[in-house]
Amino acid sequence: MPVPKAELHLHIEGTLEPELAFALAERNGAELPFASVEELRHAYRFEDLQSFLDLYYRLTDVLRTERDFTELAEAYLRRARAEGVRHAEIFFDPQAHTSRGVPFATVIDGLWAALRDSEARHGITTSLILCFLRDLSAESALETLAEAEPYLDRIVAVGLDSAEVGHPPAKFAEVYRRARELGLRAVAHAGEEGPPSYIAEALDILGVERIDHGVRVLEDPILVQRLVRDRIPLTVCPFSNVRLRVIDQLTDHPLRRMLDLGLLATVNSDDPAYFGGYVEENLQGVRKALNLTPTHLRTLARNSFEAAFLDIPTRDRYLAEVDAYSF
Ligand code: HPA
Ligand code: ZN
Repeated sequence: MPVPKAELHLHIEGTLEPELAFALAERNGAELPFASVEELRHAYRFEDLQSFLDLYYRLTDVLRTERDFTELAEAYLRRARAEGVRHAEIFFDPQAHTSRGVPFATVIDGLWAALRDSEARHGITTSLILCFLRDLSAESALETLAEAEPYLDRIVAVGLDSAEVGHPPAKFAEVYRRARELGLRAVAHAGEEGPPSYIAEALDILGVERIDHGVRVLEDPILVQRLVRDRIPLTVCPFSNVRLRVIDQLTDHPLRRMLDLGLLATVNSDDPAYFGGYVEENLQGVRKALNLTPTHLRTLARNSFEAAFLDIPTRDRYLAEVDAYSF
């Protein structure tokens, strides 16, 4: 049985497997620029973050109805449970859908139909993190937050994703302030392709509690010390880093160094349908590539629950499961 874990960096749109994309395209009469599942899989070779995002946004076009979003989330939950996931904090990108004319309500009601009783049906507790697309305007992010207001009981936090370089966290200071006033927690992608200064900016200006990716923190030893001291979690995504050429190959991945420095790093899958594996494959991949010890693996499992937005009794229940696991 895989180790019990929380997944904290998972874009639900990034779980769209080619087979489901084709099935939804057919059901919805949507055009896909690929003749077959094989041809689509062949397109999963990326130069950088932007070349991935171009395909990722193109494929979202097949997601149109509540049922589509429900089926997408159901497929993820089934898969996640088999991988030992006990708790998932799931990103969604409303602007990728509202910009195509799909109402916010369709997206969130569809996802919620799968997540509402995920604990009873799949044995996984879940929550949603609403991400703003940082290459769109701050006004668009504010409009999106306003659309989310009737649904705040389904959303635990706001996040920031999409093309990083040239879109520093400070651009979204106002929308994050508003989100925190509404009682939402805050995270942001930073230090994936962007410089370490974006990590500091996300902490200082947006008030985030967790950094998504953050691997470039290692370029700034003073910032490393700060993240260690303040126990700021980093949701690291090894397969994503290799596929998007943030890191040359898995054996060069800095995860082991990050753990040995005392950073509160976790392992996650980001966009597993595109990057060659779900969270357990990411974990096994780095275990082998970096010769991780059982102590590293226990630390990663504990970190995943310590970094989660869980109430203390639930977190402690999950940590007890990790403590009982034989690594
Ligand atoms: N980075 C930025 N935006 C994204 C990602 C990512 O890894 N995945 C989906 N949107
Ligand atoms: Zn991501």
